[in-house]
Amino acid sequence: PIAWFNGRFQPLEEIRLSPLDRGFLFADGVYEVIPVYQGHPFQLEAHLDRLDYSLDGIRLPNPMSRQDWREMVETLIQGNGGGDMTIYFQVTRGADHQRDHGFPGDDVEATRFAMASPLPVLPERIRREGARACLVADTRWARCDIKSIALLPNVLAKQQAREQGADEALFHRDGELVEGSSTTLFLVVDGVILTPPKSHAILPGITRDVIIELAKEAGLSVRQEAIPLSRLSQASEAWISSSSREMVPLTRVGEQPIGQGDPGPVWKRLQDALVKTSR
Ligand code: PDD
Repeated sequence: PIAWFNGRFQPLEEIRLSPLDRGFLFADGVYEVIPVYQGHPFQLEAHLDRLDYSLDGIRLPNPMSRQDWREMVETLIQGNGGGDMTIYFQVTRGADHQRDHGFPGDDVEATRFAMASPLPVLPERIRREGARACLVADTRWARCDIKSIALLPNVLAKQQAREQGADEALFHRDGELVEGSSTTLFLVVDGVILTPPKSHAILPGITRDVIIELAKEAGLSVRQEAIPLSRLSQASEAWISSSSREMVPLTRVGEQPIGQGDPGPVWKRLQDALVKTSR
């Protein structure tokens, strides 16, 4: 696969990075994941807006213009044969000549990296029965709205899910559901779609925004509000969403089935609408 590193397109295997890179030493960087369908990036401008937001959040000036980002993404897609894929990219605060927590001088350039990967395929079991989640205490920092490459709590939560036979971990904090380890959470309670409001506690999901828009267009009611854990037992449906997985129905959390324990009609309707708008 063709990747991109500091302005150059080259084979992924040939890219070499300094061990002094601050992404490696301090997780001092941010990232994005953009889905591509039939050669077209979906919601590219929203992802580039969020990149700006994340970079602002870590006080790192965007090293490239909007147009340069667009062109890089386009070339990367074509260089990998078009079609369906995800584009991952990250920006770190670069490699200084020594390890020092404080920001490096202005002479140190930000490191820019991007690659294309296949769109993950949903396992047949999840397609048929929906996904299972487990609950994990949210021990992350207080700026989860920044799409930081520091993902250790997310990594540990996902592994815990895997070891418990679950497909995703749902973070909870102070008695409220927050989001998945790499997904946004939605519930349907009494016919109303619920998702936590944007705050420093969650990543402002791009798929989340699209789903809310599609739900409103379909005349469904959506409330962005805090979700106490007790809502799980009242929910008729739940799903998780992300750029790489679209909407995946959640049919069990721990030992508890959600609703009838099957993928539900609201999920189906909105997932169909999402496919339609993104292709
Ligand atoms: N994850 N919440 C978290 C913690 C995430 O990492 C993600 C995305 C989302 C969904 O956001 P979006 O709809 O913009 O993809 C919510 C990406 C896909 C990842 O880390 O691979």
